[in-house]
Amino acid sequence: MSEPLYDTFGRKHDYLRVSLTERCNLRCRYCMPEEGIELSPRHHICSRAELLHLIDRFISLGVRKVRLTGGEPLVRKDAGEIIDEMAQRPVSLAMTTNAVLVDRYINRMKNAGLTNLNISLDSLDPDRFMMITRRTHFEKVMANIHLLLKEDFNLKINCVVMRGMNEDEIPGFVEWTRHLPISVRFIEFMPFDGNRWQTEKMVSYAEIMEHIRRDFTFERLDDAPNDTTKHYRVPGYTGNFGVISSMTEHFCGSCNRIRLMANGAIKNCLFSDSETDLLTPLRQGEDVEPIIRESIRNKKASHAGMENLADQPNRSMITIGG
Ligand code: 5AD
Ligand code: SF4
Repeated sequence: MSEPLYDTFGRKHDYLRVSLTERCNLRCRYCMPEEGIELSPRHHICSRAELLHLIDRFISLGVRKVRLTGGEPLVRKDAGEIIDEMAQRPVSLAMTTNAVLVDRYINRMKNAGLTNLNISLDSLDPDRFMMITRRTHFEKVMANIHLLLKEDFNLKINCVVMRGMNEDEIPGFVEWTRHLPISVRFIEFMPFDGNRWQTEKMVSYAEIMEHIRRDFTFERLDDAPNDTTKHYRVPGYTGNFGVISSMTEHFCGSCNRIRLMANGAIKNCLFSDSETDLLTPLRQGEDVEPIIRESIRNKKASHAGMENLADQPNRSMITIGG
C-alpha cells in the first residue's frame, strides 16, 4: 500500500467522485447552459476498462469512497456493467443521479451495495420542475423516489435554491420530511460557466434558515467528519433536512475530494479552472501516480484559491459532476 494522498494542508484525499459521462437527460438551468455544451470527442472519453483502471489506481492510493456522478451517470450505456464491476472493489459506493432511469438499475445497484443515492430534485411541482429542468420527467422521478424508498434505499434529495425560482418551496420540502425517511439538502447556487450566475440569485444559508424558521421549529443534528451539510430535524418528523453552504460558509478545510471526469482528467477542486489529464499518459503506458500526487500537492486551501468565484472561468457543472 502506498502513502495516502495528502495535500500541503494535511488533508487526506480518500474520496473520489467519478463522472461517468458528460451527457444528461435533463437540462437544469443552473447546470447546463441554454445552448447545451460541447461534448468531448468520443475517443477522449475513458472506456470502461480505462475508467476502472484509474479508479483502481486511486484505490491503491488510499481512496475508500467512490461516488458515481455525471452528467447523469445512468445515461452512459455501460453504467450497469460499471456498477457490477464496482461491487468487487473495497470501497463505499454511492451515486448522484436525477432518478429518471433508476428503476432499470434497482437490482444491480442492490447487488453492488449501492444503496446510498443523492437525487437531484429542485421542485415538488410538475410545472416548476419542467421550467427548471426543461424536461417533462417529473412524474417518473417522483415514482422512482417512492420505488427506491420501498426498496430501502437511503436517499438524500439535493435541492439547489435559486431566488425567484424555487425559494418559496423551501417549507414544502421540509414538510416532505414529515412522513418520508429522506434527507433534503438545500444547496446554495454556485457560479459556473453558462449558468448566468448573478449574486442576487444565490439564496444564502442564513436566508434558507430564515424561510424555515417562519413555519417550523427544528433542532440541529450532529455532522459526520468531512460532512458538507449542516443537518437539522423538525422534532417528530421521520426525515431531516440540511443546508450545503458552499458559498457563504465553505467547508474546504475538511475537503477530502478528488474529481475524475469522464475524459480522464482530474480536478483537485470543484472550482479549479485547471485540469490534469490522466488518460493520455495512461494510454501511453505511463504510471499516473506521480501525476496524481502532483495535482493534489497543488491544491489550494479553499475554493481553488480564488478571491471572487463569479469572475472565474470554469467548465459547466455538467462535465464536472457536482
Ligand atoms: N450550484 C449548486 N449546485 C449545483 N449542482 C449542479 N449545478 C449546481 C450549481 N450551479 C448540483 C446539484 C445536483 C448535483 C449533480 O450538482 O445539486 O444535484
Ligand atoms: Fe443533469 Fe444533474 Fe445537471 Fe440537471 S443538474 S442537467 S440532472 S447533471
